[in-house]
Amino acid sequence: MCGIFAYLNYNVGRERRYILEVLFNGLRRLEYRGYDSSGIAIDADLNGGAAGDAARAYTSAPPLVFRQAGKIESLVGSVYSDVDAMDLNLEKSFIVHAGIAHTRWATHGVPSSRNSHPQSSGSGDEFLVVHNGIITNYEVLKETLIRHGFTFESDTDTEVIPKLAKFVFDQAREGDQTVTFSQVVIEVMRQLEGAYALIFKSPHYPNELIACKRGSTLILGVKVFFGYFMIDKQDRKFLVPKRIVKLASGFYLTKSLTNEKNYSTSFRDVKSLTTDGQPKELFFSSDLFAIVEHTKNYLAIEDDEVVHLKDGSVSILKFDYGKEKPASVQRALSVLEMEVEQIKKGNYDHFMQKEIHEQPHSLTTTMRGRLRDNSVVLGGLKDHLKTIRHSRRIIFIGCGTSYNAALAARPFLEELSGIPVSMELASDLLDRQGPIYREDTAVFVSQSGETADTLLALEYSLANGALCVGITNTVGSTLARKTHCGVHINAGCEIGVASTKAYTSQIVVITMMALAIGADKLSTQSRREDIINNLPTLPDKVSDVLKLDVQMKDLARSLMQMQSLLVFGRGYNYATALEGALKVKEVALMHSEGMLAGEMKHGPLALVDETLPIIVIATRDACFSKQQSVIQQLHARKGRLIVMCSVGDAASVCAGGSCRIIEVPQVADCLQPVINIIPLQLLAYHLTVSRGYDVDQPRNLAKSVTTQ
Ligand code: F6R
Repeated sequence: MCGIFAYLNYNVGRERRYILEVLFNGLRRLEYRGYDSSGIAIDADLNGGAAGDAARAYTSAPPLVFRQAGKIESLVGSVYSDVDAMDLNLEKSFIVHAGIAHTRWATHGVPSSRNSHPQSSGSGDEFLVVHNGIITNYEVLKETLIRHGFTFESDTDTEVIPKLAKFVFDQAREGDQTVTFSQVVIEVMRQLEGAYALIFKSPHYPNELIACKRGSTLILGVKVFFGYFMIDKQDRKFLVPKRIVKLASGFYLTKSLTNEKNYSTSFRDVKSLTTDGQPKELFFSSDLFAIVEHTKNYLAIEDDEVVHLKDGSVSILKFDYGKEKPASVQRALSVLEMEVEQIKKGNYDHFMQKEIHEQPHSLTTTMRGRLRDNSVVLGGLKDHLKTIRHSRRIIFIGCGTSYNAALAARPFLEELSGIPVSMELASDLLDRQGPIYREDTAVFVSQSGETADTLLALEYSLANGALCVGITNTVGSTLARKTHCGVHINAGCEIGVASTKAYTSQIVVITMMALAIGADKLSTQSRREDIINNLPTLPDKVSDVLKLDVQMKDLARSLMQMQSLLVFGRGYNYATALEGALKVKEVALMHSEGMLAGEMKHGPLALVDETLPIIVIATRDACFSKQQSVIQQLHARKGRLIVMCSVGDAASVCAGGSCRIIEVPQVADCLQPVINIIPLQLLAYHLTVSRGYDVDQPRNLAKSVTTQ
């Protein structure tokens, strides 16, 4: 939730208009994380001139701060009109300039310009802060600061941070001490509790920025002109010699694999940040999407690291409560394997639509290189399979769509592993402090790898000694870094707030995981081989089911005025019912419930009448005849039925009443949820468009739920 972004150009002349556009574009990329208000801070005219000390001598003018309720485009409009009114020159060039930006998903205080970030230390904006996360002890800090004469203008938890920075700064000044920007930030961190990623800007430290984090994600992007990163000579012995590419005398780009956690995807690494003095552009961002159009060299900042950008260099300190002086740390930059096209809509109207239609491709990438000669190879799990096979339980832990994906794949994992598989919604596990044992394997499923509830459940499971496996779409995410091992789903960037392609890739990865875990059992060999042979044909079947687009659009039109929708599924497709209903409610803003068909007669049947639309999933599998009875019972009550069945089954499933039919290709039972969800994704999409709601930014939601 909330996106933070910063841009610093060093010794690369950039016009004010360009700087504004970089900040706005950063926010546009991050808007999916929160879109109820936004803001930026840039430097005033006085902050020009040469880099370094010369510039500092005449830079202490308060920055220009703009905040606006509503979506990014309303900020953009208001900034340009303010700039006009202030007669600011958009062509003015800055040799060095540091700007910060924020897009908000409100936690404390209603969406308004007053509660938008940057939050300020008060008049003169001596310290400005953009924040993603929640400060849990802000009330105590606020009381203390009020006692010291500070007044507060917003309802946010964030406002204590810049005020605390000013307090620390003033105290040092009163004691006639000079205090560096990083000393101020470290003293502030000492007081903060909660989760945060922060970026600080201050006219006392012109042309500098500081970022730090605990819990929330933060990325540093580095674009260096006329040079590359120099490898520390001593480091070279750790690299695979063949993979070092010599670029120029003294400069090397390494392609060493940094797959420390045994994840099934590797990424490359560039050593050392020694690029001091070279012209460069530096970025801080809540995620990689906002930097990919500028640079592929990035660093995932670790918890308690304080990253200081000053005079064209990057220094990193590690904060430690126990130590007065933080240690300086060396970190390696990684190279991002993502193309700008992935974060653009292309010919589609919405990201959700693009991502639904991308599924034949995303599933192909999910499986690529992992199916070999009647077996499944998941590099990230291979060293842990024995431990998993000896687990007393396998527990899936996740939230929302990721939970549903695990639920869809659970029956197959139970069947192949013979191990009891239980399901936990991360927040519920934490609320109950449910039992997790050393003998358990806890599998964490998360598209973003940053969901707060899932990460807290991970910490809890690690503390209880379970083997923790991650299944995520996000290389370098907290989940990927903190689990013992795992598998990347490789579905590609998912930007639409409603998860679609990640869901189907998660099911396929867990199915492959089940195949790998069960690979030692002779008794299930032919079943395994059957599924392994079916997997490569899945993308084509998905392409076939996507042809239902027009039919789903038509169905959406017929349902657009409805208040409510029920979806009944069972067995492999209980999860499909939950997930289909979740999609409809989150984007189309229509009440919708996914239900276990076996529970229908234990209560929900009372809702059935001629008006309430009910989707029944009745594709061919072991539950088919039970679903036929459910349909009959609904017919008997004159239910308004929409039945999803396998191609060719229309007449038989609908006998005895009238219903609308969605015919889908039949695949192996455990893969059927991948097919069956697609018409429901399309339905949710078209319902949203017909009802006139925002597809990619549904009301009140954000893509990564990084607060509890
Ligand atoms: C629904 C949706 C959410 C997420 C949930 C977990 O479309 O996207 O329900 O699935 O917030 O997010 P991740 O998978 O990132 O942990």
